[in-house]
Amino acid sequence: MPMAMAMAIPSLSLRFSILLSLSFAASSSSPFFFSNLQSPPSIPKATPSDLLSLLGPPSQSSSVNHLVADELKSCFKFLVPFNPVNTQISSDTKFPSSRRSLLKSPRDKENDLVWWPPEPVLELARLAFDSGGDPDSIHRALDPTVLPVPDVEGSKEDKCELTRTPYGRRFISQELNSYLEYLFKLIVERGPDVGLKVSLSRYDLFHGHLFIATQTGRLGILFHAKEYPGYDKEAFPCYLGYCQKDSNVTYDDSMNLRNILWLAPLPSNSTQGWIAPGVLLVLDAHPEGIIYRDLIPEYVNFVRTIYEDDLGNVVVDVNYLNIGDSQPDYQIFIC
Ligand SMILES: *[C@@H]1O[C@H](CO)[C@@H](O)[C@H](O)[C@H]1NC(C)=O
Ligand SMILES: *[C@@H]1O[C@H](CO)[C@@H](O)[C@H](O)[C@H]1NC(C)=O
Repeated sequence: MPMAMAMAIPSLSLRFSILLSLSFAASSSSPFFFSNLQSPPSIPKATPSDLLSLLGPPSQSSSVNHLVADELKSCFKFLVPFNPVNTQISSDTKFPSSRRSLLKSPRDKENDLVWWPPEPVLELARLAFDSGGDPDSIHRALDPTVLPVPDVEGSKEDKCELTRTPYGRRFISQELNSYLEYLFKLIVERGPDVGLKVSLSRYDLFHGHLFIATQTGRLGILFHAKEYPGYDKEAFPCYLGYCQKDSNVTYDDSMNLRNILWLAPLPSNSTQGWIAPGVLLVLDAHPEGIIYRDLIPEYVNFVRTIYEDDLGNVVVDVNYLNIGDSQPDYQIFIC
């Protein structure tokens, strides 16, 4: 701590003079300059829990250091508008969903499905939360039938194993499986809005990691797009094994956008209601930003990977695989 303070002194005086000159231009009613002057001059390291808190209700987001918060927010690229005060006041969850279909554009309806997912998704989020983050609360919702993972776009021929087990399962609730498919498709549809061109293929977007956030019990999925960029002597001189062979994903700036986060609505502690709606966003890991600096381990910073284990207890992987032969046929496999 003393070390950090000492190193920060030159920047403190610089900061002070910038603020002084700014304050001449600013309206005199702004209270922010004075509180800024008293804040610690060095920005604390951002944590995964800061990131999750900022996507929670105001009671959680307000606890994050405001300098960290500003930097993190500048790296959030929402695929569905962030709507933290859109809380469901009524505990009658049927009511909003029946109103949902009236007078709404298709885009609004898609947003609604992220803010307030269908009942089986809310139930799963509630189970995860009420169990105190017990992975079995999710495992019990899976159909025990074991499904071998078939060939995915020629993966067998390349000896490529895409999933962490050679078999997968599905949720008992068909609506839950459909919701997962919906998320994959929405990412592909809306990615370009924030600069992420992404396709559902075994080299690009095919999986996410379902987790329960450690401190809040919130259910989430961290998707990883651009999983296997093609080997390139100049741009990407890395061997990633059999699954990389013949990849058509190029290593470029879109790698910065490969971490995509979905969070379920956050249940209330005290009632059957909800204190935050669902979110879907890209976490921009460009090298000048705080996500790259603080949340990506140094040994994977070239591929910009945020680790799912840093966000919570990882329960299962969710895969959406094209197992079609001549015609595309995408299916969910939970591994
Ligand atoms: C790579 O191939 C997949 C599957 O054929 C296709 O959907 C996608 O558009 C291709 N991506 C690029 C960047 O060419
Ligand atoms: C939930 O309740 C517990 C104890 O009743 C409390 O410690 C915790 O902070 C509460 N969590 C939230 C998110 O309000």
